[in-house]
Amino acid sequence: MKFFIDTANLAQIKEAQDLGVLDGVTTNPSLMAKEGIKGQDNILKHYVDICNIVTGDVSAEVISTDFDGMVKEGEALAKLHPRIVVKVPMIKEGVKAIKYFTGKGIKTNCTLVFSAGQALLAAKAGATYVSPFIGRLDDVSTDGLALINDIRIIYDNYAYKTQILAASVRHPMHIIDCAKLGADVATCPLSAILALLKHPLTDSGLAQFLADAKK
Ligand code: E4P
Repeated sequence: MKFFIDTANLAQIKEAQDLGVLDGVTTNPSLMAKEGIKGQDNILKHYVDICNIVTGDVSAEVISTDFDGMVKEGEALAKLHPRIVVKVPMIKEGVKAIKYFTGKGIKTNCTLVFSAGQALLAAKAGATYVSPFIGRLDDVSTDGLALINDIRIIYDNYAYKTQILAASVRHPMHIIDCAKLGADVATCPLSAILALLKHPLTDSGLAQFLADAKK
């Protein structure tokens, strides 16, 4: 399973890249705002800065909601860097835009996916990635992981190439469960990736080894 980091924070992206396990980055307008990135020029420059840190795909989201606007924005984003993936919301105009980008050889990430039907449409339109938001489903007492399982079954039934990118990941068990279910990618906060490292028996075992090494 690929690991993407879900942030626009350059220091965190660099930390994950330096760990040697990072396969890409996802951003969204909320994550960009959290970093205080404002204005079109600064936003575009920030995407390029991210692309220059990592070696994998970087999702950059359009904010238009009409087909023409999405196409214009997406084409400009795609020209920024070969690693840019155009992130498009799962709405009617978005499905059309994904189909258009697919025809142009531009990679896409269909975002804000909350049902298997939406994921099926994204795959039929040729999305490179589909982003089911598992944490936000869990937040409303709906099983986010069950959605990953359903999409995996559907995509495998028809050999769709669209990669399942588990999004809205909140903690390490989400990552482990997504791996068990066969998600292609999990996009995670740095804290969830680092939490995978932790086990008290590792800490106590290492402390014992280091103490014994001094004897
Ligand atoms: C990723 O592509 C999504 O934008 C992100 O994972 C959403 O996560 P959140 O529900 O924690 O905002």
